[in-house]
Amino acid sequence: MVIGPYLTERKVAFDPATGVRPPSGRSPAARLDEAAGLARAIDLDVVAAEIAMLSKLRPATYIGVGKVEEFAALVKDQDVEIVIVDCALSPVQQRNLEKELHAKVIDRTGLILEIFGRRARTREGALQVELAHLAYQRSRLVRSWTHLERQRGGFGFLGGPGETQIEADRRLIQERILKIERDLEGVKKTRGLHRAKRQAVPYPVVALVGYTNAGKSTLFNRLTRAEVLAKDMLFATLDPTLRAVALPHGEKIMLSDTVGFISDLPTQLVTAFRATLEEVVEADLVLHVRDLSHEDTEAQSGDVEQVLRDLGIDPNDGHFVEVWNKIDLLDPSQAEALRTSVSRRPVEERPFVVSALTGEGVEDLLSGIEARLSRDHVTFELRLGPQEQDQLGWLYDNMQVLSRDTDEDGGVHFRLRVAPDMIERLERRLPQARRVAQTAKQSRRRPAAE
Ligand code: GTP
Repeated sequence: MVIGPYLTERKVAFDPATGVRPPSGRSPAARLDEAAGLARAIDLDVVAAEIAMLSKLRPATYIGVGKVEEFAALVKDQDVEIVIVDCALSPVQQRNLEKELHAKVIDRTGLILEIFGRRARTREGALQVELAHLAYQRSRLVRSWTHLERQRGGFGFLGGPGETQIEADRRLIQERILKIERDLEGVKKTRGLHRAKRQAVPYPVVALVGYTNAGKSTLFNRLTRAEVLAKDMLFATLDPTLRAVALPHGEKIMLSDTVGFISDLPTQLVTAFRATLEEVVEADLVLHVRDLSHEDTEAQSGDVEQVLRDLGIDPNDGHFVEVWNKIDLLDPSQAEALRTSVSRRPVEERPFVVSALTGEGVEDLLSGIEARLSRDHVTFELRLGPQEQDQLGWLYDNMQVLSRDTDEDGGVHFRLRVAPDMIERLERRLPQARRVAQTAKQSRRRPAAE
């Protein structure tokens, strides 16, 4: 059974301790729906989903007495084994609810941890999730102190074995955490190497971000025609997947699929995301995939941007592009109205309207990616004399060679496309390099320090 205990009160301040955010305008029904979707994502059979609108929180059980009784009856009636409560419960509240409902109770953080644990595909993802899980358990140990003490008390002396047991548990957890942190360091180093290797291939990186179930993996597959796990399953993607994609004029990009975002992301899990989001920070272009057919598309979009901001990424820094997906699910007149209104926007801010499922709009998206990326790059012409051939390796490693012709004197003429951060280095290293007049407007996206 899934329970959505939602506060009717609108003014809830952001609480960093629990990760509870002010309601972002989404309806209780949609929130419950999402929670049920999350439960199904770990193969639970949802037999009941109930909303409990609360005017205030009851410290002992979060939900009020009357509602708890009502739910207990439902649990009995429907033979419910697990109750998912879509909020962050304190350990005491969780335990009290378990007692009163006679079923195992899992809160939102526990549920998301479970999903992450199942979906982690790379070693780093798995380690990050385990780390988050341990931190979650450790906090429960500390806070459920009195309970455990009472349960296990009665032996020994000086604080009692309850305390000793907790101390032992904590030490075990602490040791495991330290080991994982060490392992992670190793994994990160290897990944750093991978990345260094990838950067030697001077393809721009384009990252997909978006709310869970927005259609990122489907779009990724369509663009790369790769077999990435894409089912009607939340969080089908936890670790970044990276593939080369050819743009209409033959230029290549590296496309990176990332994990889906959700609202009320438990703070303990934010770090587990960083691994996947590093790709986003470093990306030359970020495509924000939105499910336009979802009634809460605006709120979802706000959540995605908020999570990015929490991670120090500014969604307004000019290298974000919105992709409005699932256009096939809108009724034709709605879709038409949407296209018209989009076409009135300035090109720079125009979202791409697509259906990852049918492929509609995907060609335009690819051309759009090409156009946006080339705004940032500068074309150079360069001649290397016969004595300068040792620069060839550097050139090929750091920029894109558009053309290469050898002249009669043994010199080589190049036409190069240079990423913004390489321009200065090129000009310093090979001062004879000349910019080719730019036709496209220069991008807004320049390092702030310039
Ligand atoms: P997470 O991995 O949870 O972050 O999800 P995701 O954003 O990768 O979504 P995914 O590609 O797995 O798609 C979720 C569901 O939406 C699947 O059932 C897709 O078939 C469906 N879907 C994706 N794009 C479209 C679309 O353009 N139209 C329709 N009708 N369905 C779509």
